[in-house]
Amino acid sequence: MMPSKTEDRPGPLPDEKLLDLFEQRMLDIWSRGAFDLADPVGTARLVRLLLGREGFGPTAPVLAESGVRAEWNRVFAEQRSEFVASWLAGHLTGPVLDVLGGDFTVLRALLRHGLDAGSVTGCERSTAYESDWSRLPFPVHDVPADVRLPEGEYGSALLCTVLHHEPEVRRLLDAVARTGAERWVIVENCLDAENSEEFHLYVDEFFNRCLNTFDVPCVPQHRTAEEWRTLLGGYGEVTVEESRTDVPGMPFPYTLFVVER
Ligand SMILES: C[S@@+](CC[C@H](N)C(=O)[O-])C[C@H]1O[C@@H](n2cnc3c(N)ncnc32)[C@H](O)[C@@H]1O
Repeated sequence: MMPSKTEDRPGPLPDEKLLDLFEQRMLDIWSRGAFDLADPVGTARLVRLLLGREGFGPTAPVLAESGVRAEWNRVFAEQRSEFVASWLAGHLTGPVLDVLGGDFTVLRALLRHGLDAGSVTGCERSTAYESDWSRLPFPVHDVPADVRLPEGEYGSALLCTVLHHEPEVRRLLDAVARTGAERWVIVENCLDAENSEEFHLYVDEFFNRCLNTFDVPCVPQHRTAEEWRTLLGGYGEVTVEESRTDVPGMPFPYTLFVVER
């Protein structure tokens, strides 16, 4: 990803309840994700204290030097993408357009689950990630500011943890509709009784400031599963809605929605 100045920005200092929850979730994901950490309990406590007293900026180098950052990013790259790919593969009909595919670890995992590299296309904002797309086994297109998406004959559009980052969600959904893809496969981390907007936004910022350096503001666009179902229902029929609580590296559940147009 692009080098940035995000770590220079003062981060919000969260309240104790939010930090209690984050400490607990760190321990949960570190144990179930097979993180290689010598002292997870002590490390989670230290990270929590630093986040509460100093904010993201001073916490980031501690995560880097302790090896937590590298382990967490390894789990994202290897285990999260494998988990998501094995969950989604059976729902995707080619050709597939991966909308805002990030570093494309999910799309690459989907190739290992049987998608043909000749029938997938990726797209991402070229300013967002520092990545050499020419080395990927499928074409990747830039997404311009007006979110125009690459034209093609798509069977499915994939939007994996993308929508809640968009300040104008409908603008992106309208752009997906214009691609003509008949099936949309969407994954979102949803609001629920245990996962508030405040918690989701805090984790988004933590990822961007402490695990990577992604210099785009996080926006309060998270929704409950019911709210997503209602919004997506305006574009087609939501035929699948399924949640998983054990996503490697993620401190909240993911919900899958399949929309038939
Ligand atoms: C979590 S990434 C998901 C990437 C890919 N679909 C995946 O599942 O691995 C979120 C996507 O939203 C976009 N985005 C927009 N604003 C963002 C923000 N503030 N933080 C992170 N991603 C953001 C990024 O370009 C990226 O494509």
